[in-house]
Amino acid sequence: MKKLLASLAAVVALGVAAPSALAAGGELPIDHWPEKRAHELAALQSGARLFANYCLNCHSANLMRWNRLQDIGLDDAQIKDFLIFGNQKVGDLMTIAMRPADSKVWFGKTPPDLSVITRARTSFEYKGTDYIYSLLRGFYRDASSPTGWNNVVFPSIGMPHVLWQRQGPREATIDRVLPVVDEKTGRETMVREVSVYDAAGNAQVTRTPLTGHAAESFEVTFKAADPAAARQYDSEVADLVAYLAFMTDPSGAERVRIGVWVLVFLAFFAVLTWWLNREYWKDIK
Ligand code: HEC
Repeated sequence: MKKLLASLAAVVALGVAAPSALAAGGELPIDHWPEKRAHELAALQSGARLFANYCLNCHSANLMRWNRLQDIGLDDAQIKDFLIFGNQKVGDLMTIAMRPADSKVWFGKTPPDLSVITRARTSFEYKGTDYIYSLLRGFYRDASSPTGWNNVVFPSIGMPHVLWQRQGPREATIDRVLPVVDEKTGRETMVREVSVYDAAGNAQVTRTPLTGHAAESFEVTFKAADPAAARQYDSEVADLVAYLAFMTDPSGAERVRIGVWVLVFLAFFAVLTWWLNREYWKDIK
């Protein structure tokens, strides 16, 4: 019981800590994930393929069994031949060989289990699906960071941009207005800071002090070397997020489908009851 409470507390702490770390930079760019992908089998399958190929080396999905992928239209042979590496069976859970203690040494943080990540990252401000859709599209090269990457949604993230070859090189311009405290006078002034990161991650930063009142702001623009590849990448990430949302709630789509029929049935039954009631009382009244 104590253990259970401790792990519950840890989950709550995680959920609360992540968004506040994000909020530190002012308005962060959170885009809307195209939700209709959640209902497209082809999107879910492409997401599952990306997940198995690119994410399962570092992240586990310990609550998910491989054969649950039957729900998105894959059969056991496809799951075994195209998705499972190593000697796992289709009835096994999506575990990984990397030990949490090792990954902590390698990355500074243990990559979290992704079974229910879209729910774990849902906050009052945004949905977890929108957050992860933005996170995976928010990477830019930063030569000063240990992994060589940084992220506008999660500054100094310990995860490298593992899908970068699919997206292609990009330049990033981060335009911020933020308060800076003068060390000598202790006075706070607003500064506009524009950092331009080239495709190799070298930054050029210009700071201009602002006079008068200025609100904090945060604006990012990316310039992709191959805009078509970058657009294709956005679409792939939408598929991947659809798959992550499916793992979080595998029976979600089914529940919505059944729910519609339940409402149709209830509506029909309500009419029937009203009509029967009228028929019974017709002669008595
Ligand atoms: C090379 C190892 C590695 C791979 C591969 C990897 N990640 Fe990560 N990931 C990490 C690490 C390390 C963290 C923890 C980062 C931190 O907290 O600073 C992380 C964190 C995350 C988070 C949580 C971010 C948060 O808000 O706390 C998500 C979501 C995520 N990864 C998704 C993915 C997806 C999706 C893939 C596959 C495309 C993937 N990762 C592939 C190492 C990896």
